Amino acid sequence: MKLFDQINVLTAVAALVFFLLFGDAGNARLYVYGAFFGAILLQYLASQHLKEKHLIDSLTNIILTTTLVYTTGAYESAFFPLYTIPIIIIAAEQHLKGVILVCTLASIGFGSTLIFSPQAHELTVFDHEIFETVSKIILFFVIGLVVYFMGREYRREKIQTAKMIASLEAQNTELQRARTEISRQEKMAAIGRLSAGIAHEIRNPLSIIKSSTDLIQSMELENLRCRVLTAAIQEEASRLNEFINDFLRYSRPVKLQLEQRDINEILHQVVNLAQETLPPHVNVIETYDPHLPLTAVDRNALHQVFLNLFLNAIQAMPHGGQLTLKTRHITHRIEIAFIDTGLGIPRKNLSMLFEPFFTTKDEGTGLGLAIAANIISEHGGRILVDSELGNGTVFTIVLPIRDITEDGNIEDSPVSDTVSTHSD
Ligand SMILES: Nc1ncnc2c1ncn2[C@@H]1O[C@H](COP(=O)(O)OP(=O)(O)OP(=O)(O)O)[C@@H](O)[C@H]1O
Ligand SMILES: [Mg+2]
Repeated sequence: MKLFDQINVLTAVAALVFFLLFGDAGNARLYVYGAFFGAILLQYLASQHLKEKHLIDSLTNIILTTTLVYTTGAYESAFFPLYTIPIIIIAAEQHLKGVILVCTLASIGFGSTLIFSPQAHELTVFDHEIFETVSKIILFFVIGLVVYFMGREYRREKIQTAKMIASLEAQNTELQRARTEISRQEKMAAIGRLSAGIAHEIRNPLSIIKSSTDLIQSMELENLRCRVLTAAIQEEASRLNEFINDFLRYSRPVKLQLEQRDINEILHQVVNLAQETLPPHVNVIETYDPHLPLTAVDRNALHQVFLNLFLNAIQAMPHGGQLTLKTRHITHRIEIAFIDTGLGIPRKNLSMLFEPFFTTKDEGTGLGLAIAANIISEHGGRILVDSELGNGTVFTIVLPIRDITEDGNIEDSPVSDTVSTHSD
């Protein structure tokens, strides 16, 4: 049973007991029976899940309290504070009209005990009984309004506290993301320094090997086998040199060469380039926004990012599938999506995707996405991942639209965090 129902039952029992013990059988009898009957009817109505259940409960309570007060000394009854119960409950519910209504009903109920009391005809306006009754009625309103306004203040503070907690939580998440991003960038910088050192150490002996074999090749070698072998050394040395150059390009901090470019065009070039290597049963669909504005980007760097995302998607569809490339313009941003119907990414891998050297491929370096995240971050954008295991993956790049001004500066509207992941 709800609090209000319990209060009503207690009030009804008290009213009945007092009526039976001390009730004035005279003209009060009709009123008391009527009140009980009315209260039971109202209680039934209130139990029908009415929208205004609490108001009906209050009305029932006021009728029962009036009965109790009337049978225990009317306006002098010690039970008059019971009127404040429905007033406080409604005020705590933050229902101002309800507070006024319940206070008015309580005043009418309490006032009627004076009007219908046997002494009523002897009283004049200046009698202290009238003064006392009016004071008590004013007290009902004061209590109702004080509780209402205090409750409002409390509720406001509660809402403010909830807002503050939500904002703190958002800041905390933002901080965590920034921390992950910084740690990823630090790792990339360390790898860059390390590879630069290694490259330097390897390049010197390599150039000696290369120049020595060049010299041997320029000699008139009698032995054919010797010529073939030196050619092989030369070729392998060049390949190694090429690899080091590639690796350095890969892991050095990116220095962007910004120009106003059409993203659709860069994407299409990547598709054309990779078309040759496309395995059978892989279908590529290009759905570009024809009204995509130009934006300040490093063409080569973006080409590298798109190529890696393209190859990753193709490699994730060993049994064929569909890769959709989409672009769209949203207010100050450009969104580029690579949507594949491949294997998807297990949830446990999502947080590591952008870590340098994270790979699930035998031949992979695991640097593709780490570098992509770096490049996109340098452009003031971010990469989002959404993946469903077994159904495919969507990588979305969000780039701010930036212009190169006449004095060579960039007009910027960057989006925050670089990387965010989601998986089902
Ligand atoms: N579209 C995709 N679908 C499923 N898994 C993906 C997808 N893209 C990336 N991955 C996962 O993320 C890992 C890291 O990708 P990343 O491009 O950084 O390196 P890689 O592709 O393994 O190596 P590399 O880029 O040097 O060839 C991949 O090994 C793969 O497990
Ligand atoms: Mg890759």
